[in-house]
Amino acid sequence: MEVTEPTWVFGYGSLIWKQDFPFLESRAGFIEGWSRRFWQGSHDHRGTETSPGRVLTLIETPGQRCCGRAFLVEPDVFDHLDHREKNGYERVAVDIHFENSRSPGVVYRATPDNHAFLGDAPLDEIAEHIVGSEGPSGLNSEYLIELASALRAMGEADGHVFSLESRVLALLK
Ligand code: BEZ
Repeated sequence: MEVTEPTWVFGYGSLIWKQDFPFLESRAGFIEGWSRRFWQGSHDHRGTETSPGRVLTLIETPGQRCCGRAFLVEPDVFDHLDHREKNGYERVAVDIHFENSRSPGVVYRATPDNHAFLGDAPLDEIAEHIVGSEGPSGLNSEYLIELASALRAMGEADGHVFSLESRVLALLK
């Protein structure tokens, strides 16, 4: 997807709590028909080549909405984001819903056919995997806990994220 003018990028994971890029404006919002899931392997951020961590991707889920934060960015910011999310993610066009409006935008999604996709597993297994993983960007558990805190601060609930967070916090005790 080519971007030639300031464009909204929708964050549903680390973009919500880690903005290492300039943006013109940010707004809470949601996308429809998607759910976030810890189903993508991370070889370069929260794990390693030999021991990948688990990070988020979007899974098509009719009738569900995924809440997050959108950032209006200049086109060159996508070069930085493409590099940051190079391990299996691609840009997908989405409609982003704001409180009283809607805008076209872009989201990063790792599809089930990418080389690093791990897919579903029991929540206890995913939690253990997250607790045991670490990569160049830090602990895999930090990625989850930061996300859960950011969603809570926005007044958003996400069953998948919060169930994993309580399991991970119990394992870390
Ligand atoms: C995000 O926060 O939107 C995001 C999640 C996974 C990969 C890239 C971006």
